[in-house]
Amino acid sequence: MIVIPEMNDETRRIAAFLNERFSAAAGFEMKVTDEMTSEPAIFFMNSGLAHEEYAIVVEPKRIVVEYGDGAGAFYAVQTLLQLLPSQIYSSDRVRGIKWTLPCCSIEDKPRFKYRGMHLDVCLHFFDMDFLKRYIDLMAMHKVNVFHWHLTEDQGWRLEIKKYPLLTEKGQWRKETVIGTLASGYYDGKPHGGFYSQDEVRELVQYAAERYVTIVPEIEMPGHALAAIACYPELSCGLEDTYETATKWGVFKQVYCPKDETFKFLEDVFDEVFELFPSKLVHVGGDECPKASWKKCEHCQKLIKDLGLKDEFELQSWFITRMEKYINSKGHEIIGWDEILQGGLAPNAKVMSWLGEEGGIKAAKQHHEVVMAPYPKYYLDYWQADPESEPLAMGGPTTLRTMYEYNPVPEVLTPEEQKYIIGVEGCVWTEYMPTPARVEYMAYPRMAAIAEAGWTNEERKNWEGFACRLETQFARYDEIDLDYCKAFYNPFIELHKDGPYDKIVTISVDVPGAEIRYTVDGTEPSINSALYELPFVLTPQQVVKASAFRNGKQVGKTMYKTYK
Ligand code: ACM
Ligand code: ZN
Repeated sequence: MIVIPEMNDETRRIAAFLNERFSAAAGFEMKVTDEMTSEPAIFFMNSGLAHEEYAIVVEPKRIVVEYGDGAGAFYAVQTLLQLLPSQIYSSDRVRGIKWTLPCCSIEDKPRFKYRGMHLDVCLHFFDMDFLKRYIDLMAMHKVNVFHWHLTEDQGWRLEIKKYPLLTEKGQWRKETVIGTLASGYYDGKPHGGFYSQDEVRELVQYAAERYVTIVPEIEMPGHALAAIACYPELSCGLEDTYETATKWGVFKQVYCPKDETFKFLEDVFDEVFELFPSKLVHVGGDECPKASWKKCEHCQKLIKDLGLKDEFELQSWFITRMEKYINSKGHEIIGWDEILQGGLAPNAKVMSWLGEEGGIKAAKQHHEVVMAPYPKYYLDYWQADPESEPLAMGGPTTLRTMYEYNPVPEVLTPEEQKYIIGVEGCVWTEYMPTPARVEYMAYPRMAAIAEAGWTNEERKNWEGFACRLETQFARYDEIDLDYCKAFYNPFIELHKDGPYDKIVTISVDVPGAEIRYTVDGTEPSINSALYELPFVLTPQQVVKASAFRNGKQVGKTMYKTYK
């Protein structure tokens, strides 16, 4: 039985999330009532805890959940599910399981108010079912912001009624680069997709019921080629034709800061505000080359008329002008680091991606900051040895590296540190053409970002996280998540030394594991040489390494040949 004295639509829905799992996996549902009882039950009590905070006491005959708002009660449900056997996540009935929870007492509240995951749906398009699953997984990880990257050089994905071409035409690129962006090979296949306003409303509602706020991103002044291809009058007009980009990177065709452009962007935001209740909207701001503005008569005259120093100040003026409009509609802006160049707009928050310098600078100026630094929080980077992984952007950024990053820079004073309001993992989909690839890249690293969002630095502990990850993997298995298990594998590195030898180092991040290796081509066993120190590899030799824990191999055997 679930007892909720404060029974209303919201608490009823939260109880239904718990029952939905029981119904699918256990084959029964608990009765939901607002009447107190002396029977065994789960009691949800509003005890006035802070936003998102909850407490759980599990005793032999009852479970008491305390919360202060829906978000807190919802997170308590997520934790109750985690306390149950992992099969509770199964979509099929599981028999022969005792659905018990360990007796315990939990008090939990997040470290940061902003715990985000980004998803770029422009470099590759993903359908609504996948986005709902992404939000389900965010909710399971108690992540509360979905940063939806909706516009890019490679495609415009948001229906705007006033500018129908944006999706009729701007969703499409005629083909897509194969391999790295410089490969020179293309697939010859059009790629497109967009979200209708009805779909957006549906997703916003779906996310809200899971305590996830969707922050939409409309890029400006750069990364605007798909829009400019539809409406070339928004550009500086220096080129004969504009086409949606077919490869990744940074393009010089950017919005020209003229009245038509501002009218267009304001109209776009008017529709965005109708669709997204989020107070915060993302205005991009990253990677805006200045080549077109330098050549454009209008831009140069504007710089002179406004008494600006250069194109960087023009960019700042651009963002500040948009901020004024957005603020006038009751919304706030966040932008990537580059909005600091030429001066930060008065009320802007900064999403620090170029390392953490931008975040530090903004916090010192008393602007709020979300830490999303590349490469530490970039999930499009390899998470293991590139030689054994699918193509990615760079790195590697291992799970452990991501986990151990402290998003609050120590160079900031305690007062300045308060301006770091959160963390975000970035999922740019250059090399993630399918949902399966996104999931492989995003998990388990999303768990590392989520833990940074909830747990103070002093309490973060890699070994503890790695141990808990094993149960998390069991949950992932129940929902058929194709996550990356590479952190179990030894990481072999060959370092150049003399002309006829290389130095081998091997590491593994699994706590309590030892590495056994061979150099004669045989498979390593528990009796092979124990790796303790770097050693020398000579031509023709191959090093093979496996990690063992408690006498059993964990992960895969990895190998490298002298090359
Ligand atoms: C970015 O990765 N260009 C924000
Ligand atoms: Zn111009």
